[in-house]
Amino acid sequence: MRPRDSPSQHQMDRCYGQARRRERGRERACGGVRGAQPLGMIMTELAKRPTESITEMVQVVLPNDANPLGFILGGTVMHLIDIAGAIAAHRHARSVLVTAAVDGLQFLHPIRVGDLIILRGRVTATWNTSLEVEVEVFSEETLTGRRQLTSLAYLTFVAVDRDSHRVAIPHLILETDDDRRRAAEAEVRRASRLQARQALELRRTSAANQ
Ligand SMILES: CC(C)(COP(=O)(O)OP(=O)(O)OC[C@H]1O[C@@H](n2cnc3c(N)ncnc32)[C@H](O)[C@@H]1OP(=O)(O)O)[C@@H](O)C(=O)NCCC(=O)NCCS
Repeated sequence: MRPRDSPSQHQMDRCYGQARRRERGRERACGGVRGAQPLGMIMTELAKRPTESITEMVQVVLPNDANPLGFILGGTVMHLIDIAGAIAAHRHARSVLVTAAVDGLQFLHPIRVGDLIILRGRVTATWNTSLEVEVEVFSEETLTGRRQLTSLAYLTFVAVDRDSHRVAIPHLILETDDDRRRAAEAEVRRASRLQARQALELRRTSAANQ
């Protein structure tokens, strides 16, 4: 199946199952070592466009979600970002995923009880076993419809199987200049995330040696 054929979900699921079976066959041929064979071809077959993962969640802010000032709690927003990001990531990967990183998060203005919180997620880049999702958060005043961007989050998810082995992720088809710009920016963020991870690993090992 060529990635540009716009396959139906049923076709994609069937293709995914076939690719998985082929992948398992190759793994068996390699003594069960996952990823020992190049999976690039399979992941190209399963490739998806960023638009296929776009996810929008809308929720009204209720008193239970708020602090004593009547503003949504930061933790509630973070939870919703994780959910919206995970749904977008699952739509792309169709695999079990764990959250590996969430980039620095800012809250530009409060969202009040009674307003709507809108989260829009999409996959921006994929690598071997990981992918990045961008989640934009907006507030919308129910009475006026005024919409404002309040936060922008980048989450990295890693695909794993039930035994926690990493598994390959389908490629992302970059068709538009906007897709390519987002993917190039994601590469820069990935480099700094991996540096931050390395620094944390160093700290962990030096703390363990004390
Ligand atoms: C995320 C996790 C699976 C990575 O495991 P690991 O053994 O370090 O894996 P690797 O070093 O082989 O990395 C696997 C992939 O994740 C990426 N990755 C790992 N940590 C990352 C980070 N902090 N930021 C960005 N990418 C990261 C690697 O670059 C690699 O990507 P690639 O295969 O696409 O090139 C592991 O650290 C983990 O399980 N963390 C806990 C996850 C969790 O509990 N999350 C919250 C609840 S879901």
